[in-house]
Amino acid sequence: MLIAKKIIDLQNFLKNKRAHHSLGFVPTMGDLHEGHLSLVKRSKKENIFTAVSIFVNPKQFDCKEDFKKYKRNESKDIEKLRKENVDLVFLPSAQEIYPKGFQTSVEVGGLTKNLCGTFRPGHFKGVAAIVLKLFNLVQPDKAYFGLKDVQQVKVVEQMVKDLNLPIHVIPCPIVREQNGLALSSRNSRLSSEEYFRATKIFFSLRVCADLLKSRRNLSLKFVREYFRNHLELQGRDKVEYFEAVDPETLVFLKKLKPPILFAAAVWIGKTRLIDNVLVLKPHHVYGG
Ligand code: PAJ
Repeated sequence: MLIAKKIIDLQNFLKNKRAHHSLGFVPTMGDLHEGHLSLVKRSKKENIFTAVSIFVNPKQFDCKEDFKKYKRNESKDIEKLRKENVDLVFLPSAQEIYPKGFQTSVEVGGLTKNLCGTFRPGHFKGVAAIVLKLFNLVQPDKAYFGLKDVQQVKVVEQMVKDLNLPIHVIPCPIVREQNGLALSSRNSRLSSEEYFRATKIFFSLRVCADLLKSRRNLSLKFVREYFRNHLELQGRDKVEYFEAVDPETLVFLKKLKPPILFAAAVWIGKTRLIDNVLVLKPHHVYGG
């Protein structure tokens, strides 16, 4: 008989009871692209079973219009997941997830206050609630998240840690087009001209990272202005934020000393896109 005095012992006991059937889980909002599928492939590699959820979560949209415009592509998505040999697709209705009278919220503190949290009120509350709910429903061993949404990864990691959820969160690299643009379900809303302008986001993030190599005592003000000037050329697009943060805590950096995460949100016309690059050392840039 095992007497578990530590949570970790209890969890290990429970885990072993589930035998060796590891379950990997990829939560998504559908309209799947190669970025999503990279998470699925990774889960397939590392687990015996893989489950994917598709649910456009109304509670994480701070803007109703964005929720309405969010592309639903159910049959194509199912086809793509069938090709990847996914074991289970969870495709609940809003009613199933939020039945009448639903009134619980989940809030992760400090991490959600800057970057996207500043500009999308309630967004991370919505994300935390749905991810926790999905974790409870699916009960995976490992859950896969893309680093394109780096703040989301941190928020989920923090929630898992704070609430002692027996789940490994696996951050996965950003999948990009050859031109560097991070794949996103929102890219399909861009006109061809906007698409071209959007490719400048990653390009400019990379240049900022490169500036660290060539200039000593580079100031954040200089880098921010550089980024803005490149993106806001001709006044059609708008940088919502461009920040240099600690890659672990996402706290704003005062000095540009690696490790640095450059993170940005940019409105290309009416479409909001986010991206980031990680600089571990001046000569070592991760663009995902
Ligand atoms: P969604 O935007 O559909 O993204 C699902 C997962 O795919 C997220 O972990 C996201 O970071 C990852 N992803 C998207 N584009 C990627 C890319 N170019 N490279 C690598 N990974 C990428 O994120 C959400 O849905 C929702 O907030 C969700 C977690 C499902 C909760 O509703």
